[in-house]
Amino acid sequence: MTDLLAHAYDPDRFRRQGHQLIDLLAGYFEKMLHPDADEKVLNYASPEALFQRWKEDLENAPHPQENTFFATMLHDIIHMHHPKYMGHQTSNVAPLAALAELTGAVLDPGMGVYEQGTSGVAIERVLSKKIGGLIGWDDRCDGFLTSGGTLGNLTALLCARQVMAGDDVWENGLQGKQYAFMVSEQAHYSVARAVKVMGMGERGIIRVPVDQYYRMRTDLLDLHFEKAKKEGVEVLGVVASSCATATGSYDPIDAIADFCEAKKIWLHVDGAHGACVLFSKKYRHLLSGIDRADSVIMDFHKMLLSPKLITSVLFKNAEHSYQTFAQKASYLWDKDEGREWFNLGKRTFELTKSFMSIRVYALWRRYGEAIFEQNVDRLYGLAKRFSKMIAAQPDFEAILENPESNIVCFRYLQVGWPEEKMEKINLLVRERIVREGRFFIVQTRVDGRLYLRVSLMNPFTTEKELTGLLEEIRSVCAVV
Ligand SMILES: Cc1ncc(COP(=O)(O)O)c(C=O)c1O
Repeated sequence: MTDLLAHAYDPDRFRRQGHQLIDLLAGYFEKMLHPDADEKVLNYASPEALFQRWKEDLENAPHPQENTFFATMLHDIIHMHHPKYMGHQTSNVAPLAALAELTGAVLDPGMGVYEQGTSGVAIERVLSKKIGGLIGWDDRCDGFLTSGGTLGNLTALLCARQVMAGDDVWENGLQGKQYAFMVSEQAHYSVARAVKVMGMGERGIIRVPVDQYYRMRTDLLDLHFEKAKKEGVEVLGVVASSCATATGSYDPIDAIADFCEAKKIWLHVDGAHGACVLFSKKYRHLLSGIDRADSVIMDFHKMLLSPKLITSVLFKNAEHSYQTFAQKASYLWDKDEGREWFNLGKRTFELTKSFMSIRVYALWRRYGEAIFEQNVDRLYGLAKRFSKMIAAQPDFEAILENPESNIVCFRYLQVGWPEEKMEKINLLVRERIVREGRFFIVQTRVDGRLYLRVSLMNPFTTEKELTGLLEEIRSVCAVV
């Protein structure tokens, strides 16, 4: 063994350094729970500045002081645990899930084949069956974890195509056929991306308009279906957004399921963000009809306190999931044709994938479903109160008085301002806020208009921070 390798794997060093590192991270959690007024969410630096800095840093390697590197990261990287973080919808990682991830990283088994993944593979199945049960499915359901909602949607839609198309598309390709899936205009772009990756092109995605609450207009499904049919397009299924990313609105699954059953087509629920309400007695009604879906995805790394990426891909009928990929790989498993639930690589896009199940499972077994329920209830309730708060301000408007999830789109305005001015000011506001780093919010376009958007991901965010955000926006508007 070389000196360097012996040094890198020295258990005593690991122990010492690990203790110091955990102290550093615990200090971070403490600070984020009660941040000083000047504690920023993001210490913004330009992409070019950071590129140069890290380039020089690596040119000067090796650096003996590892923990100063980790401390620098705590300064540089966005503080998702800061109560004024209200931006992209990724989770506020619970400390126990982070410790589980560290353990997973040390052990680092692969999850593609049982003999490598063992307990990790078994836990994926336990989780899938549990979530299937929450959906309302019977024991024929099954699923697995995959790396993100984008890949989850692609996996489910590949399966839907293979099951619903009369031909074996996996083996023979599209053979000149034009297949399509129907989605709401507000669906996440990963659905369209999946359809295009599947070689179905723009005609492969049929966008159905939404109502004033940004939910799919199911009364228009038949019209679009018949139009497609006349044009020689075979609709294979409908994707319900639960919820839509920009507005947080839930498509009416029951009505979509009625349509899918009548037409004998697939129903997929993109619950990347909003299927988390499966855990909530208060908000579960938003998914009414989800038990009638053929496939569902749900991200644990959004509302469910787990580190990125962990997406649950679920099938009502486990048999279907074996049809997604039919590749043979005899060096990996003995029986190519067998339905071996424990050789996950047969059904997932990835072969090697990280030990994701440990992070979710550690939380679930310690706190039960209640921890997910409490987080969802708290954040969904806070968004409703924020929207009411906005409605009471003459210089703000929200697109929905009663948002269905923890996502709120709103903008600053003054009576008499033309649309272009509102657009310009709100764009500048968002840019300034991110650069100054006291809050972190995002923006989106709805009905062609630019809105500021918050997704309330942090259970420690309160009305106080939200009032502060409106004040911050006003003060930025006063100087731009
Ligand atoms: C409704 C919906 N579907 C899919 C995705 C994609 O998920 P991921 O970012 O995990 O790939 C998102 C991400 O925001 C989403 O909101």
